Amino acid sequence: MKPTATPSPDAATALPLPPARRAFCRRLALAAGSAALLSASVLSAPALAADAAAPIKIGFIIKQVDEPWFQDEWRHAEQAAKDKGFTLIKIAAPDGDKLLSAIDNLAAQRAQGMIVCAPDVKLGPALQARARQANLKLISVDDRLVNGAGKPIEAIAHVGISASAIGAQVGEALLAEVKKRGWKLAEVGALRVTYDQLSTSKERTDGSSAMLTQAGLPAANIVSAPMPKADTENAFNAATVALTQNPKFKQWLVFGPNDEAVLGGVRASEGKGFKAASVIGVGIGGSQSAVNEFSKAEPTGFVATVMLSPRKHGYDTAVAMFDWIKNGKEPPKLTLTSGTLADRANFKQVRTSLGL
Ligand code: GLA
Repeated sequence: MKPTATPSPDAATALPLPPARRAFCRRLALAAGSAALLSASVLSAPALAADAAAPIKIGFIIKQVDEPWFQDEWRHAEQAAKDKGFTLIKIAAPDGDKLLSAIDNLAAQRAQGMIVCAPDVKLGPALQARARQANLKLISVDDRLVNGAGKPIEAIAHVGISASAIGAQVGEALLAEVKKRGWKLAEVGALRVTYDQLSTSKERTDGSSAMLTQAGLPAANIVSAPMPKADTENAFNAATVALTQNPKFKQWLVFGPNDEAVLGGVRASEGKGFKAASVIGVGIGGSQSAVNEFSKAEPTGFVATVMLSPRKHGYDTAVAMFDWIKNGKEPPKLTLTSGTLADRANFKQVRTSLGL
């Protein structure tokens, strides 16, 4: 994430964004302004008092609805809504415009809080302003929002994964399998599928790389495959280019920020003619993408994943928001969750042990 030279409090001008995005941010700021007017003129004291007794409504906005991890988060948050008796409003916001209408939608429905995994973490300041003015409490989940200088906005409560440590776990799992197969690290290529514009992604792949090089993998053997968008299709395309450009490696490790990226890398290796015995991929996530892969009759190069807890991210975060709205109990500013290694042989037990 490139820091801007002079961060300004005005999100609409501080962000180094293309014109369309700048226009969007300006709209966001304007919308925030009109909400301020609305709250000053329309929400008189009796109206606010009535609101305090209103049923609790919580928005849960996610960036990638087709990714099983986010479906799982929603499912667990739904469970929290049932258990605690609040309404969960699920909204998919794959881009900034959708995020803006999602917030408007929540404000119109008189929701009191929103949990957000934003499609672009640089929208942080604008999102924060809009939430404040629409009187919506805000917790970010998965992807931490950043300010105009690209630094985390520490005032916004965040629930994420301990990204470097989980990346290191991936590295350890890759090394354990290398040892099991009797491969020589000096001869092995390591395909690092990256999405460095998002810090939780970069920390994960950096953590894996560091673990591998510490164990003796030559740094020159790490080949990066940057994805323009973090999904299997983009990972597949980026990985195919990287593999084609590095024909000297006959055995490959594959790692990335999530299962979908690693699956894209493994599918690309298959497309280039590599058999499962020549590929070791370890993902992060453990949702349906990994489950489907582990359930195939024949093992593939996707050998393991560091399973995360969508229950902690979905259920616990929704309960924390509920407690904040209902009882005024502020959530911790930063919660980082851990992961558990799972493979084809034990993934069902690991899921059960995580309450999934
Ligand atoms: C990011 C990734 C997702 C998932 C979550 C977990 O949002 O894009 O695939 O790994 O982190 O927190």
